[in-house]
Formats: sequence, C-alpha cells, structure tokens
Amino acid sequence: MIEGVVPDCWNHYLAILDLAYNNNLRGIIPASICSTSLVVLRLSNNEFFGELPSSFKNCTSLQTLDLQHNKISGSIPAWLGENLQELQTLELRYNMLTGTIPPQLGNLTYLHVIDVSNNHLSGAIPHSFGNLTAMKTNIGRGWSGIDNYVNNIEINMKGREFQLEGRIPSIFICINLSNNMLSGEIPEELAHLSFLQSLNLSRNQLSGQLSEKIGELKWLEVLDLSVNNLSGVIPPTMTNLTSLNHLNLSHNNFYGEIPYGGQFQVLLDPSIYFGHRGLCGVPLNTKCEIEAPAQPLGLPNNEDDNNLEAIWFYLSMSLGFIFGFWAISGALILKKSWRYAYFRFADHIYDKIYVLVAVNLKKMKRKCCLARE
Ligand SMILES: *[C@@H]1O[C@H](CO)[C@@H](O)[C@H](O)[C@H]1NC(C)=O
Ligand SMILES: *[C@@H]1O[C@H](CO)[C@@H](O)[C@H](O)[C@H]1NC(C)=O
Ligand SMILES: *[C@@H]1O[C@H](CO)[C@@H](O)[C@H](O)[C@H]1NC(C)=O
Repeated sequence: MIEGVVPDCWNHYLAILDLAYNNNLRGIIPASICSTSLVVLRLSNNEFFGELPSSFKNCTSLQTLDLQHNKISGSIPAWLGENLQELQTLELRYNMLTGTIPPQLGNLTYLHVIDVSNNHLSGAIPHSFGNLTAMKTNIGRGWSGIDNYVNNIEINMKGREFQLEGRIPSIFICINLSNNMLSGEIPEELAHLSFLQSLNLSRNQLSGQLSEKIGELKWLEVLDLSVNNLSGVIPPTMTNLTSLNHLNLSHNNFYGEIPYGGQFQVLLDPSIYFGHRGLCGVPLNTKCEIEAPAQPLGLPNNEDDNNLEAIWFYLSMSLGFIFGFWAISGALILKKSWRYAYFRFADHIYDKIYVLVAVNLKKMKRKCCLARE
C-alpha cells in the first residue's frame, strides 16, 4: 500500500497505473503522470484535489480514466473530448466538479461509460451526446493489448454497487449524470443511443417533456429520472422498452395515464410514481377518466399555466371579496347618512319579503285545505 503524496516523476512506458482504493493518496494529481503510452489510469477512492492537469492532453492513448471518489474541482475540460480520442470510460463521480458538461465529449467515438454523477455540474445536457458512436452502434473494441489485466468497472446500477469484469462489458453502455444541478430539457438526440443500457439523470433540475422517441432505446434496462421538474404525459411509446427492469419517475410533474403493457405490467412498485398529483392508472389507486387521452384529468398541457390560472382565480376571488365587502362596509362605517339609508333600505326590503312570504303562505294553506276538503 502506498501512502502519502504521489511524487511527480513517472516512468513513461507505463500502460496501466492503478492506485485505486489507497484512500491515503492526496495532493494534486502529478502533471507528469500522463504519457502517450498510458492506457488505463485509476486514481479512484483517494484524496486527490485540484483541477485535472492540462498535461492530460498528452494521454492520447488513454482508454480508462477513473478518478471517482476524490476531491477534484474545476470544470470538465473541453480538451478531454478533443485530445483523448481513445477514451472508453470516463468515471468522475463523487468529486467537486463545477461548470457545464463540454459538448466536445460527444466527439469521443469509443466512449461508452460516462459517469459524472454526484458533482456540482450545471447547465444543459449537451445535444452532442446523441453523436456518441459507441452508444449508437455497439462498436466495442475490447481492451487492446491488455489481456491479463482484469479491468473492473464499478457502476452504481439499480441502486447497488456491483462490479462488472472487463471482459464482459467491453460493452456496458451507460450514462450517469445524476445528483448535479443540470437544467433544461433532456435532449431528444439521446434517443439515438439505441445501445444504451442505463440512463440515470435523477436529482437534477431537468424540465420539459419526455420525447416519444424515448421508446427507441431498445436495450435500456435502467431509467432513473426521479427528482427533477419534468412534466407532460409519460409517453405511451415507453411500452416499447422491452429490456426495462428498473424505472423511477418519482418526484416530477408528470400527469395523465401511466402507460400499460410491455414492461409496465411488471414494474408495479408504486414508489416509481411517488410525488405526483396528476397521474392515474395501474399501479396507483387513482383510476383514469374514460375519454381523456388528450388532456387527462382536465389539466391543461402546461402545469405552470395551470398553477398560474389557479393562483389568479383565488387571487381575484379574494380581491373581489375584499373589495366588495369593504366598499360597502367601509362606506357604511364612514358615512352616517349612508348608514341610515342602507339600513332603512334593508328594513324596507325585509318588510316586503316578509309580507310576500306571509301572503303566499296563506294562499297556499288555503289551497291545500280546499284540496283536502
Ligand atoms: C453530430 O454529428 C454530426 C455529423 O458529424 C454533426 O453534423 C452534428 O453537428 C453533430 N451534432 C451535435 C449536436 O454536435
Ligand atoms: C441514480 O443516481 C442516484 C444518485 O446518484 C442514486 O441514488 C440512484 O440509486 C441511481 N439510480 C439507479 C437506478 O441506480
Ligand atoms: C424512486 O426514487 C425515490 C426518490 O429517490 C425513492 O424514494 C423510491 O424508493 C425509488 N423507487 C424505486 C422503485 O426505485
């Protein structure tokens, strides 16, 4: 076990550098760690801090960059997507990264694992992710020239951590951007990633509606969109996701009918839909209205509009009441002559009504008695 600060001098023929799980390594990542021969770099579960050194631009053969569980700050550099053309897995979760996700990552032909979850990233999910070739076409290349090295990829899937051996997932395909501060809509282009197996976007501030095209992700096994601001209906095309075995849509603003059929027949945990008011259908207790496909439950298309309308309704009602009440009461309190006039008028009306009722009652009684006789 190596302890302490990593010295800034490295043998430049190294292909694999694995210092994961030392927990004691700290300091900034040495600039000289990288070379054109380095293929695998794992420094995960240590205490490295500071930014990614720009000398990493020279790691042009790097296939695995695993820095998860450290204290790395700064932003994800754009040159990562420009210089590291061989990159297959990028694991940066549990760090202190800020800024936006650079669209250049979409250029990386072989990238099939992106895990930047549990950082402080903001901005939108790049549309260019729809161009990630290895996720679109399953062109897995395997681990060139490193046959003896068993490459453990750790992935947080289905809420648990488990390990996948390098030989199997030469093509495990996943995107995990969860627990950041990402906003904007989920780019429709993600639907091009037909080999995607796991997509976790939970715990962000994503808004807008889900595209119908999400149904094209035929290999998707895990979809976690929980704890965002997504709205609209759950696209019925999602019943085409025949591999789906873990779904979480809880704590968003979806409304309408939960799709029925396909995997939705076995995904029956109600907590998938917790934190919604407008959803109906199996597995919830709320039944759907029969003819309501366009605007289920009579809600308008836009949740915000709906809330706004409700707010205006109550506001104008309250204003109307306050105004009406005080316009009369205020005037009566302020002006003596009006007060007299008002109560005289009220008295008069009362007398009139009393007389009317009494007369009619008598008439009715008489009629009724006559009828009886
Ligand atoms: C995706 O790739 C195509 C072809 O290279 C390019 O024209 C397009 O601009 C890219 N899309 C994005 C959003 O980067
Ligand atoms: C998605 O990510 C969140 C936060 O990182 C995590 O708590 C959750 O378990 C993940 N979901 C799945 C299905 O792995
Ligand atoms: C979905 O996510 C919510 C919020 O994180 C959690 O409480 C719930 O247990 C999850 N349900 C499933 C089925 O994973």
